[in-house]
This record gives sequence, C-alpha cells and structure tokens, in this order.
Amino acid sequence: MIAAQIPAPGRPPVLTDLPSPQSNPGRAVVEVLAAPITPLDLLCAGGQSYFGVPATPYVPGVQGVGRWDGRLVWFPTAAGMAPGDGSMAERVSVPEDQMVVLPEDADPVAVAALGLSAVAAHMALTWRGGLAAGETVLVLGAGGVVGLAAVQLARTAGAGRVVAAARSDKGRERAARAGADAVASLDTDDVDALAALLEEAAQGPVDLVLDPLFGAPAAAAARVLRPEGRLVNLGSSAGEHAPLDSGTLRGRSLRLLGYTNNALTPQQRSAAVDTVARECALGRLSVPFERVPLEEAARGWERQARGVARGRIVLVP
Ligand SMILES: NC(=O)c1ccc[n+]([C@@H]2O[C@H](COP(=O)([O-])OP(=O)(O)OC[C@H]3O[C@@H](n4cnc5c(N)ncnc54)[C@H](OP(=O)(O)O)[C@@H]3O)[C@@H](O)[C@H]2O)c1
Repeated sequence: MIAAQIPAPGRPPVLTDLPSPQSNPGRAVVEVLAAPITPLDLLCAGGQSYFGVPATPYVPGVQGVGRWDGRLVWFPTAAGMAPGDGSMAERVSVPEDQMVVLPEDADPVAVAALGLSAVAAHMALTWRGGLAAGETVLVLGAGGVVGLAAVQLARTAGAGRVVAAARSDKGRERAARAGADAVASLDTDDVDALAALLEEAAQGPVDLVLDPLFGAPAAAAARVLRPEGRLVNLGSSAGEHAPLDSGTLRGRSLRLLGYTNNALTPQQRSAAVDTVARECALGRLSVPFERVPLEEAARGWERQARGVARGRIVLVP
C-alpha cells in the first residue's frame, strides 16, 4: 500500500510502499478515506511534543476517518506519541474498541478536518471549563480549527455572548462568519494593549476563556475575566510561556486550568466525536479544509507547517 512515512525526526514525510497491516485480535484494518495534518502531527514528527522524539521511520497521523466492515468510522492512533503507524496511508490498524461509528451520510473529509481539534474545543468548554447557559465566553486563536470550532460549539452549548480574538484578518473574518458576537484583534504582543482590545470587545466581564495560544494573549485574557472566572489552556501556538501577573490571578481568585484530549476516557472521547459529527451533519459546525491527495503528502505537510493552507489539510486517497 501507499503510505507517507517520516524518515527521521524533523523531516517531512516521504511516499513509500509498505505491506498492508494484518488484522489481529482486537484490532481492525481500516481503509483510510481522510487523514488530517494537525499541529500535533507536526509537533510529534519534529520531536518537540512532550512525548519526546519519535522512533523513525513511522507513518504519521493521529486520527482519521475510514471504512471498516462496511461502516464509516472515525479512529484515533498513537502515531508519533508511541511506536506504531498512523492514518497517512491507504490502510491502518487501529484498536477496534476505539473506533467511533459515524452516520452513513457524514462527510468523511469535513469530520476529519474537525476531528480531535473540535473534540478538544467541545470538552474544554463543557467538561473542563464547565460552561453554563448564558455565560460569556472569550475564544482566543479563533481563526484556527480549535478556535473556530469553539466559537460554534460555545453557541450550541448555550453561551450567552461569544467573543472571538484572532491575529490575522483572515482569522477574524472566519470567526465573524462562524457567528461570534464580537471580534478582537491579537495583532500585538503588548499585554496592556491586548487587554484593552479584549475588554472593548467583551463589553463586560468574561466567565470563561478558551485558550489554544498561551503567551501574551492568555495573559491579557486573564485580565478580562470576572472574579473566579476560568481560563482553560489547551495549546501554545503563541508561546510556551505567558507573562501572567500574580495580582490578576490572586486578586480575582481566577481558575487556570489545563486541558488535553489524552486525559479523556475512550467513552468520553467517543461521545465527543459523536457530538462533533452530529453538529457537523446539522450544518452547525464546520471549519475550512483543503483536500490533498495522499500521493502529495509532502506538499500538504509543508503547506500546513508553514501556515499557508486555506484550512486544515486533509489527505485523501
Ligand atoms: N490540548 C489538546 O488536547 C489539543 C487538541 C487539539 C489542538 N491542541 C492545540 O491547540 C493549538 C491550536 O490548534 P489548532 O488545531 O486550532 O491549530 P491551527 O488550526 O493551526 O490554528 C492555530 C491558530 O493559532 C494562531 N496563532 C499562531 N501564533 C499566534 C500568535 N503568536 N498570536 C496569536 N495567534 C497565533 C493562528 O492565527 P492566525 O491564523 O490568525 O495567524 C491560528 O489561527 C495547537 O497548539 C494544538 O497543538 C490541543
């Protein structure tokens, strides 16, 4: 079968001919229909994730949508986080009990583009962040896949006001189209200036911040939270460190929470994938994506890594 393989840490994938995986007890061989290239895939392959430097060569792809036993399924893999191959191949072996059966009319590419990014947005808002009906939510990085999904999912989860913040014009346009009530710019690293922009957009205290960025945007967002407000961090696209000041944290008794999909039970993850697929089918949840043939995996990988893709790149057969 054709597969995209990372030859060495930090190198882009190379197209390779590999033997098809064999089915073993408890494992299924899935025909891959859609494999997204996500920030986690890039981090793992570069050896920069907290899982360490991966053993190479390996086939990347921590998730995908495919067909198994006549059914359409979403599946996770541990590629890049533990030894073994992932979804960027014609076929992949996955644990049977981790697959989620999707509605037959689900669009495999649209669901793959949302995937674990939308799962993270949903669970960070509702489970970790405890979003309550009527609350004001501020979504940072709202032009990215996690942020765009969070803007839409916060609305369906009952948020009263959804404020979005993004760095680029494109990101702000996307967030506005996704239904944000107000959109702020993140186009500076000055925490005071950022806090003023966020305060103006929020028009009142924020209950919950959804933060895939950390860095200066997270420090500024903490300043617009209400007393005992929550900030859920789930990524570090803007930086591994944030200039958070103790006075803001202490003075408002803020709650700073971390989130990772890896802490979900398989049941929680399956239920969240089901929610994402259902919202997608209802037309209430979508993110821009670009289909790229598996044969052109290296080109897709490079475009996603440079941030020049028109949306999440999804490899298709
Ligand atoms: N914890 C979890 O379980 C989990 C799950 C999924 C993802 N994540 C993490 O969440 C983060 C976002 O993922 P994603 O899928 O949304 O990625 P993405 O689609 O690539 O979006 C990243 C966004 O970050 C913004 N950005 C990058 N650098 C920035 C900066 N210095 N200041 C402000 N904005 C900046 C970009 O804004 P512009 O487009 O405006 O330039 C882009 O919209 C990643 O770190 C990812 O690893 C975590």
